[in-house]
Amino acid sequence: MCGIVGYIGDEEATPVLINALKKLEYRGYDSAGIAVIGDGKLSVRKAKGAIKFLEQRIATEIIRGSVGIGHTRWATHGEPSDVNSHPHTDVAGKIAVVHNGIIENHAKLRAFLESHGVAFRSQTDTEVVAHLIDFHYNGDLLQAVLETLKRIEGSYALSVVCESSPDRIVAVRKDAPLVIGVGKGENLIASDVPPLLEYTRDVYYPNDLEVAVVYRDRVEFYDADGDPIEKTTTHVEWDISAAEKGGYEHFMLKEIHEQPKALADTLRARIKTYATKSINLEEIGFDASWAEANRVVITACGTAWHAGVVGKYAFERFARIPVDVDIASEYRYRNPIFDPKDIFIIISQSGETADTLAAMRMARSGGARIIAITNAVGSTLAREADLVMYTWAGPEIAVASTKAFTTQLMCVYLIALQFGALRGTISSEDLARHIDELEALPAQAEKILAEKETIQRFAARNFNKSKAFFMGRLFDYAISLESALKLKEISYTHSEAFAAGELKHGPIALVDETTLIVAICTQRELFDKMDSNIKEVKARGATVLVITYEGETHFDKTADEIFRIPAAPDALTPMLSVIPSQLYAYYCSVLRGLDPDKPRNLAKSVTVE
Ligand code: M6R
Repeated sequence: MCGIVGYIGDEEATPVLINALKKLEYRGYDSAGIAVIGDGKLSVRKAKGAIKFLEQRIATEIIRGSVGIGHTRWATHGEPSDVNSHPHTDVAGKIAVVHNGIIENHAKLRAFLESHGVAFRSQTDTEVVAHLIDFHYNGDLLQAVLETLKRIEGSYALSVVCESSPDRIVAVRKDAPLVIGVGKGENLIASDVPPLLEYTRDVYYPNDLEVAVVYRDRVEFYDADGDPIEKTTTHVEWDISAAEKGGYEHFMLKEIHEQPKALADTLRARIKTYATKSINLEEIGFDASWAEANRVVITACGTAWHAGVVGKYAFERFARIPVDVDIASEYRYRNPIFDPKDIFIIISQSGETADTLAAMRMARSGGARIIAITNAVGSTLAREADLVMYTWAGPEIAVASTKAFTTQLMCVYLIALQFGALRGTISSEDLARHIDELEALPAQAEKILAEKETIQRFAARNFNKSKAFFMGRLFDYAISLESALKLKEISYTHSEAFAAGELKHGPIALVDETTLIVAICTQRELFDKMDSNIKEVKARGATVLVITYEGETHFDKTADEIFRIPAAPDALTPMLSVIPSQLYAYYCSVLRGLDPDKPRNLAKSVTVE
């Protein structure tokens, strides 16, 4: 939820830390701060609000030194304010800590520390960590951190500096992301890879409770008992320009436009093209035994859950296997029934979503086998699942998920089709045809993007509508869910989704002349049903936009406006039909004067409950 960074080397730490924090601002932007050691003294600067306010403060209150840590915050304990900003220090101001996560037993620890005379300054859970490290400090920072870890409960990625040990940063994670970049004569710490790429491509991914002691010229790792451990670096292949806006006004628009490439990348490596086309999932260890499952359970949150809803329809269509789709935060608390032959598909862009990880761990403890679909190499989900299928979407910076969603769909379809092939529910000819259809999707997505001004003009006429409802049937219902989420999260329009057949069971009571209805109509057998639904809402005064296929005339008489997408098979259309909705949400957000990349109250990665 928050972003942490660290630098130790020969350069001035402050500009490196600020630069790195800017690349992590998507993880939280309530406040920011840094702590730097120079000339034997630890100095802290922090400010409420975006990083630019911290920069303004540093411009007049300069701090020098070549070792430091930084933080960008998404508040969990205590309001956004200067005093609640990280880094937090011990009473003497000699030890500084930045933290991402939640210290669950902070109240108990606070009472303990207060009984030992500690006066707290903030309302944060993190401050206890700084005081505890000081409590255990006897001249050895690693030992003090190890002792502290024995007492804290919860999730954390921590970086710690100490005035008396200016040659090192101590960093550790548990259930929160942490990456250590290895440079030449300098080393860096961050919550995610993009801030590191300017400096190095060689990184360590520490596991839970592996403590890193980061010096200028080396990184040492210790287990929770303080015994040294060996770790190897991973070389990151991401292009740094992929983590920047590349000429677009916002990351979200850039990421929407990256979908054709992301879809092609995600598909390409998984297709065998010799003789009859087939799907190659051997790279992830997927063999015939996986398709012997009695049931597939898909669990995720938010947009990733919507990919799961599409997955249910896809698995039933292609593999004829029962599928349950669950919201992870529901699943983890509802005492679900396991069958040892269930397989779980856990979907998460970040691979760090707390509820999703908890659901995965429950499934694992129930004996289930787990396939992860994630965009984050080395994430907790990727490390803990049995099989990992990566979405090759590249870093997704905008809070609103777009290319991660469509590439999640691509992965879900590939697994569903392979299930079908292995279970004999689709023939090799049909499989080859479906692969051709999947291969056509990136170019079809390009065609939709080329028509974006049509959506922009439609948004210009409708962005002030107080209500927007998305409706559809089957795959179009799943895409309605995602479309409504996109619109509400970045434009703050009250938007909902419903299965069109549910209209008469309640939602129609809300429809009046202030309502925009987006009817997603790609399920050809149900066109007549959708047409009736459209007539019903038109009769109540709603404005209706229909999203349907090129050349399709079914809705010409009923819709107010029609946006046409390239003709594709009904079952594969979700990867196309969501794109107009993503664009509509984006343009509404911009027209309302909002920043689509940083919606209020939201963060990119929800690593706490
Ligand atoms: O990283 P994850 O895919 O696990 O994140 C799950 C949701 O928080 C995420 O999909 C969220 O709903 C999106 N930001 C919506 O655009």
